[in-house]
Amino acid sequence: MQRFQDRVAVITGAAGGIGRATALRLSEEGATVIAVDLDEEGGGSVAEATGGAFIRADVTDEAAVEALFARVRGEYGSVDAAFNNAGISPPDDDSILTTSLDTWRRVQEVNLTSVYLCCKYALPHMRAQGKGAIVNTASFVATMGAATSQVSYTASKGGVLALSRELGVQFAREGIRVNALSPGPVDTPLLRELFAKDPERAARRLVHVPLGRFAEATEIAAAVAFLASDDASFVTASNFLVDGGISGA
Ligand code: NAI
Repeated sequence: MQRFQDRVAVITGAAGGIGRATALRLSEEGATVIAVDLDEEGGGSVAEATGGAFIRADVTDEAAVEALFARVRGEYGSVDAAFNNAGISPPDDDSILTTSLDTWRRVQEVNLTSVYLCCKYALPHMRAQGKGAIVNTASFVATMGAATSQVSYTASKGGVLALSRELGVQFAREGIRVNALSPGPVDTPLLRELFAKDPERAARRLVHVPLGRFAEATEIAAAVAFLASDDASFVTASNFLVDGGISGA
């Protein structure tokens, strides 16, 4: 399938698990992929694998995000798809009783403010083109809660859901679709880091996944490819859950 032939896709957090897998998937389907991350080594290796470009940018930096989308449109001609996916897990215990205000703010900044900025600066280009697709990475925890004291993380992803729904409704009549993608637990560096801090957490989490395993990043990438493609032409403002059934159990 070449659903992204002659299309340009910007992917943030592209050096990591889900972002990298999506970069590879979209490029296999014909996209010119612009990988964005702070991690130069990982980002460079993605660009090499896709034949696209790597742009090092901090997605919490407004000037950098504005310049990023302007540069992509200027150099590559369009911004057809934006996968706003960069994110972090909280650096320490994330219980409401103990999370510091600094941690709370940092998690909102990287997980939610970055999505606001990427949408803010991708949308003018998409409006000028009269088309575009945005996919924002939320999480199953925004739908059901984590039961593992992830208060700032869960709240940030709830914000991503609400923001995506709002924009999906607002820009639908301009040919621009905006969806939130909510993965269940995915075997990536982010999840491995969490489980390294608390090994029993992996087993506790697994019990609740009806499919009985964690997702591979490629399984999330397949869903992003669907949402960003014309196959999803009637899908907007959705919370698209790819969670192994965890939120339905
Ligand atoms: P990852 O840690 O492998 O990748 C995240 C990437 O974001 C990294 O390459 C990192 O360098 C980049 N990044 C972080 N802060 C950045 C910044 N300020 N500017 C630019 N890049 C930045 O994580 P993973 O698992 O691939 O996560 C991707 C997204 O999926 C995140 O938003 C995460 O919250 C979400 N998610 C992950 C789940 C999982 O189980 N792995 C489950 C549900 C959601």
